[in-house]
Amino acid sequence: MEVIIQKDAEAAAKLAAALIERALRAKPSLVLGLATGATMAPIYAHLARLHREQNLDFSLCRTFNLDEYVGIPPDDPHSFRSFMDRHLFDLVNIDKRNTHIPDGMATDFREECLHYERLIEECGGIDLQLLGIGVDGHIGFNEPLSSLLSRTREKALTPATIAQNAKYFPSPAQVPRRGITMGVGTILESRECLLVATGIEKAEIVAKAVEGPITSMVTASALQLHPRCRVIVDEAAASRLQGIEYYRWIFENEPEWTEFR
Ligand code: GLP
Repeated sequence: MEVIIQKDAEAAAKLAAALIERALRAKPSLVLGLATGATMAPIYAHLARLHREQNLDFSLCRTFNLDEYVGIPPDDPHSFRSFMDRHLFDLVNIDKRNTHIPDGMATDFREECLHYERLIEECGGIDLQLLGIGVDGHIGFNEPLSSLLSRTREKALTPATIAQNAKYFPSPAQVPRRGITMGVGTILESRECLLVATGIEKAEIVAKAVEGPITSMVTASALQLHPRCRVIVDEAAASRLQGIEYYRWIFENEPEWTEFR
């Protein structure tokens, strides 16, 4: 893992967008794994700006989102599909037929999950997977005790996740109890991972995921097994990391980061 500390959430989002931009310019048909949540919104705002002002081209890009709520139709404003349309897809020149999100209204979830895995494979696998982290350490909706080899499947959400996402719904009772999510095993197969976490409420779980033992109790800790995983955090989210001085030194001194300093 490589931990990169930025001064605040805005700088973290800008750097994450710059890394995605670099990957997309290098491979216009990039297979990009996407995530939802408050941490992702400013990253997508930067990508939309790069499209508008610097012709960042999404026309050949294929995307796969990590997860979707079960029982929420795609056109419902609370669905992750609506989130993606609002924050990114409607703002860039992506072909919506190339954007994939699990179908939370599927009649046969087992078939839908197998179909999602097949689609990823047919596209040649995910080149770069963007990830947030839940306060319970989940990536996607891989809640504590998810198998670290799991594949795309339906999953019951924990009370912590329901509470964390309640702010987006009129009342906590309306937060769906289940989601469809790529598995931890699916995520680990992407060629590169980029986890972004900002804010003091993520500090403790980031320290567990990055420096703690690999455990299904914190599924983000499985990213320690990935050969190319970067973690971008702001100062607040980095504040419980034991190796903070070392991580700062790397960003300030390693030549690969020169253009981003
Ligand atoms: C949801 C998503 C996760 C995301 C998490 C964090 O639970 N399923 O993929 O990482 O939210 O969201 P936020 O960035 O709002 O803290």
